Amino acid sequence: FNTPIAINEPVKTYAPGSPERDEVLKAYKDMFNSKIEIPLHINGKDVKSGNTKTLSAPHDHQHVVGSYHLAEKSHVEDAISTAMEARKAWSQLHWEQRAGIFLKAAELIAGPYRAKINAATMIAQSKTVHQAEIDSACELIDFLRFNVQYMTDIYHDQPESTSEAWNRLEYRPLEGFTYAITPFNFTAIAGNLPSCMALMGNVVVWKPSDSQIYSAKVIMDVFDEAGVPPGVINVVFGDPKMITDTILASPDFSGLHFTGSTDVFKALWKQIGNNIDNYKTYPRIVGETGGKDFIVAHKTADAKQVATAITRGAFEFQGQKCSAASRAYVPSNIWEEVKKYVVADVKSFKKGSPDNLENYTTAVIHEASFDKLAKYIDQAKADADAEIIVGGTYDKSKGYFIDPTVIVAKDPKYTTMHTELFGPIITIYVYDADKFSETLKLVDETSPYALTGAILAKDRYAIAEATTALQNAAGNFYINDKPTGAVVGHQPFGGARASGTNDKAGSVLNLLRWISPRMIKETF
Ligand code: ALA
Repeated sequence: FNTPIAINEPVKTYAPGSPERDEVLKAYKDMFNSKIEIPLHINGKDVKSGNTKTLSAPHDHQHVVGSYHLAEKSHVEDAISTAMEARKAWSQLHWEQRAGIFLKAAELIAGPYRAKINAATMIAQSKTVHQAEIDSACELIDFLRFNVQYMTDIYHDQPESTSEAWNRLEYRPLEGFTYAITPFNFTAIAGNLPSCMALMGNVVVWKPSDSQIYSAKVIMDVFDEAGVPPGVINVVFGDPKMITDTILASPDFSGLHFTGSTDVFKALWKQIGNNIDNYKTYPRIVGETGGKDFIVAHKTADAKQVATAITRGAFEFQGQKCSAASRAYVPSNIWEEVKKYVVADVKSFKKGSPDNLENYTTAVIHEASFDKLAKYIDQAKADADAEIIVGGTYDKSKGYFIDPTVIVAKDPKYTTMHTELFGPIITIYVYDADKFSETLKLVDETSPYALTGAILAKDRYAIAEATTALQNAAGNFYINDKPTGAVVGHQPFGGARASGTNDKAGSVLNLLRWISPRMIKETF
C-alpha cells in the first residue's frame, strides 16, 4: 500500500552521558518549576474559564507545578457544537490527508516533543523516565503509526464486483461526534483514544483524567502542530458528571471510547441506554476497564522465571497498569525457591522521585489511591490468613509512596486475591503442586475480570490445559512470560468479562468500531 510501513519506535536508554538523559532532566526541571496554566482547548483555541485547580506532582504533593482551568457547562456545549461544525469538512477529507496529520504527530513526538511529553508524564503521573519513554513516547508513536497502517488495510478491503455491478464499501465516520474518556495511567492510551477516532474521520470531545492533564496538554500541542484542524479534537476537564451529562444529552452523541474503572463504565453504559431514544444513531460503546490479572505457575516451571514474572509483572509502573499481575498461584514444590528470588528482587528496587533516573518505582497517583492501598496493607497485617513477606510500609509525608508489597494468602479467596487494587501489591496463593487442574478452575472463577494472565510451565500438556481452561479468563494470555508489556503491532490489547468490550487497542478491530460504512452498488 501507498503509506509508510509502520515500525515500532526504538526505546531510548537514558544511559548516563546520553544526550536524551540531559534533555529530559532539563525539561523535567524547567517544567516542574514552570507554574504552567493549562487552558481548555476548544475549536483550536486555548480557553480559560477562570475557575482553576492546582496541578501537583504525586511524588511531591506540596509543590505547586501549575494549575488548570475547569470547564463550565457552556464550554462543553461549545466543544460539542464546534466539533459538529468541524465535522462538515473533516468527514469529507480524503483519508490520506488525515493519515498525513497523524503520521506527522508521531514524528513530532519522536523528535522535538519527546523530552517534553516524557517530562510531563514523569511530573504529573509520577513515572520513571523509563516508564515514560515506553508509554508516552514509544507506545503513543506506535499507536499513531500502526493505526494509519490498519486504516489503510481497512480502506483497501472492498467487495467483489462484476462487469454489470460495481460494488464498493465507503468507509464513513460515525454520524455525530464521539467522546473519549482517558485514564491517568497511560499517556499513550490518552493520545490513542481521541486520535484513532479522529483518524477514521470522526470529531471528538476528549476528557482526560484530572491526573493526566499535563501530558494531555503536550499531546494537544502536538496535534495542533501536526495540523489537526480546529474543532476536530476538543479537550475539556472539570466536573466529570457535568461534562458527561452534557455530552450524553446531545442527540449527536455517536460513540464512547473509554478507558477507566468498571463501575464508571457500567454507569455510562446505563446512562447511554436511558437516553437511547434521543440519539440519531445507536452509539458505539468501547471500553477497557478493570482487571485482576494472574500468573499461574506449574510444578515444572523454572522458579527464577516465575519470580521474575511476579516481581516485574506486578511492580513495574508501580502496579498502575491495567495489565499488572496482582494475583499469583505458585505450586508448593517450587515455592521456597520462588519466595527467595521474589524477596531478593523486591528488596533490590530503588524507590523515590522520578527525577532520580535510577529509581525503579515512584509514587502512586493520588491520596485516594494511597489510602486505599495502605488500608489493604494494614488489613493483611491484621489478618491471620495473610502474611506480608516483603514490603508492607508506606509514607505520604512528601509523596504518595507505597512500598512494593507481596502478600501470601492462605485462603485462595482472600480479599486481595479478587479485589482490584491498582497499585504495587500482589497476592500469592501457594497451591498443592498436584492440584493443577483444580487451581486453573480457581483462577477462572475467583475474579469477574478477564484482562491479562500468564501460565509458566515447561510441560507442554500443562500449557495446553491452561490455555483451554483459561480461554475466557484473559483477553491477553501469555505463555512463559509476565502478563504485561503488550507492544503495538505485536500484541493487540484488551480484555473481556468485566474488563471491557475487548475491541483490542492498536488493531483493525478497534478502528472498525469508529466507522459506519455505506455499501454502494452501481449497475451498468
Ligand atoms: N499495554 C500495556 C501492557 O500491556 C497496558 O502492559
